[in-house]
Amino acid sequence: MKQRLKKMDVKNKRVIVRFDYNVPIKDGVILDATKIYESLPTINYLIENEAKIIILSHLGKVRTIEDKEFNTLYPVCDKLSEILNKYITFESNILDPKLIEKTNELKPGEIIMLENTRFLDLDGKKESICDFETSRFLSSLGDIFVLDAFASSHRRHASTVGIAKFIPSCIGLSLEKELNNLDSLIINPAHPFTVIMGGAKVEDKLLLIEKILTKCDFLLLAGGLANSFLKALNFKIGSSLASHNKEVVNKLKEIMLKNKNKIMLPLDAIVGCSYDKNYVKYKKINKIEDNEIIYDIGTKTIEKYKLTIEKSKTIFMNGTMGLYEDKRYSNGTREILEIVQKNNGKKIAGGGDAVSSIKNLGYQEAFTYLSCGGGATLEYLIKGHLIAIDNIMESDEIEVLDV
Ligand code: 3PG
Repeated sequence: MKQRLKKMDVKNKRVIVRFDYNVPIKDGVILDATKIYESLPTINYLIENEAKIIILSHLGKVRTIEDKEFNTLYPVCDKLSEILNKYITFESNILDPKLIEKTNELKPGEIIMLENTRFLDLDGKKESICDFETSRFLSSLGDIFVLDAFASSHRRHASTVGIAKFIPSCIGLSLEKELNNLDSLIINPAHPFTVIMGGAKVEDKLLLIEKILTKCDFLLLAGGLANSFLKALNFKIGSSLASHNKEVVNKLKEIMLKNKNKIMLPLDAIVGCSYDKNYVKYKKINKIEDNEIIYDIGTKTIEKYKLTIEKSKTIFMNGTMGLYEDKRYSNGTREILEIVQKNNGKKIAGGGDAVSSIKNLGYQEAFTYLSCGGGATLEYLIKGHLIAIDNIMESDEIEVLDV
């Protein structure tokens, strides 16, 4: 199929590659570079085949000017340059007309990385609404577009879907690998199929829950997702992370009532407190006080989840059970990973936080496959396809480039 990188003639061509470099960064230091290493096969292939490379990626959500400071891709550029032992030009102004000239002047094997595409969202959400003119301009920076950002392939954005409307496009090597692995593992899972979900991206994941429930036999919840369900069921969750959208909360109640036998919620928690950093307490889930914050699942929850995990033939894990980076709240995530490790079925984890926790806590070998995608993997699991990949696989008509 021509939409695969190795079928394209990239020699001397300007190749725009969309990676997913949405990596955790603290004080300018990259905490987990897995996504950068995942991009190396495609980059090395392009260098070896004498392409001129233009890299695009998003990083975090950019809603205010202040967000720019914490979401610059500069540390990623630095890290990639160090790994490749190669100079990479970093361009801060993504829509600078001079970029057309600069990309034309690239020599084979040279690389330009553009700043976070979500900086464009500060001006009319140009990236996230897949703005036509923005997509057209970005496409003018290359002759070929390569989508190698599996983790962003569920997003209909200018840099994932828009560019491919204008120039010949294909999928990259790591994305192809993801599809092969996920196809063989989760499109037709062996049952009982258990999904374990936690973590912080509440609103995004809540939208997928109803659909996940049509595929899985059990859904074990923790973190902001569980808190939102608990809130919907009138439990007090103190100052814990949860959805505050009334419509969503009402919907969750309805979903819970329909799926009582599938959805499992925490029975207990380890909590912190909004005004005292040293406050750590074990609490039953119906005893959470106003200033308390749920940061981990408790021992009774672990015991309850264990019974289900033990009998599962396929397990998909997304997110963590708590704030595992803080030792005081890492027990739930570690214990659940320990139980998953002992299961002999197929075990897949997806999403930055899940994969980071698995690697940091040393459970990499426990999994059949670790996917880079979080929301994207969930959506692929549910639908069997993703918008940005469909856009490339189904495209044969390219609009005429006229910038
Ligand atoms: C991820 O971390 O799941 C991907 O990078 C997508 O990020 P997003 O949810 O901000 O689009």
